[in-house]
Amino acid sequence: MATRPIARPDFGGSFPEHIAIIMDGNGRWAEQQGLRRVLGHREGINSVREITTECARMGVKSLTLYAFSVENWKRPRMEVRYLMRLLRQFLVGERGTLMDNGVRLRAIGRLDTLPELAMRELRATENMTAKNDGMLLRLALSYGSRAELADALRAAVRDVQAGRLDPDTIDDETLRRYLYDPRTPDPDLLIRTAGEKRISNFLLWQISYSEIYVADECWPQFRKAQLLAAIADYARRVRKYGGLVADVAPEPPRRRGMEA
Ligand code: FPP
Repeated sequence: MATRPIARPDFGGSFPEHIAIIMDGNGRWAEQQGLRRVLGHREGINSVREITTECARMGVKSLTLYAFSVENWKRPRMEVRYLMRLLRQFLVGERGTLMDNGVRLRAIGRLDTLPELAMRELRATENMTAKNDGMLLRLALSYGSRAELADALRAAVRDVQAGRLDPDTIDDETLRRYLYDPRTPDPDLLIRTAGEKRISNFLLWQISYSEIYVADECWPQFRKAQLLAAIADYARRVRKYGGLVADVAPEPPRRRGMEA
């Protein structure tokens, strides 16, 4: 498949290969516009499309979006149903854009808890985009980091019981192998929108060394200009991984991750 040209402004510093985003503030945005909360989610899809396309064009290798948390199941039934319908519409309606931009789609989370119809469209979009050679778009769906760690522990204990894993050899890289998507390197940059300074149970293990950027804009207002500002801010950071300067740090965690 043809390699796409990378259209990347010069940020004057390092560029984040993996960006993860907590897309917050859909409800607040809608309320500010005098609209029903759920319409904020609908508008949020336009930001998802724009940010995905811009990241793919700039040569970001992976983009992980927190689209639905395990805790979100506790929201009113009508809002959950709306979000699941929106997910289906996104998975069907955006296939063309994903294909045009060479984007591969993958989901992480407790996917067995998603409605069957959404699962079907998810698998169809994953299969259709599987051979694309551009950016990996990961949707965190029915995702919770504590749930991911509990699932990982359960799988590891089973392997110990079956004699496939020696507990004395377990280190942080062993644990990585039991996470939902171990081959994708950890995020370099974690963005949260709508001004909140919380992690909200998102990728707790994987963001150990990520740079955090909080944008004041609500997710429906987070577009190309805001993305460029976040990346420009990242380019000014010095990453040390607990050492003194990044380039002499012994084996920074992202180098140990395996490429997808
Ligand atoms: C937080 O806004 C956002 C969510 C709970 C879901 C994010 C979903 C989307 C952007 C649309 C669906 C995405 C895809 C990829 C299908 P909030 O409702 O918590 O906002 P608030 O804090 O202002 O109430």
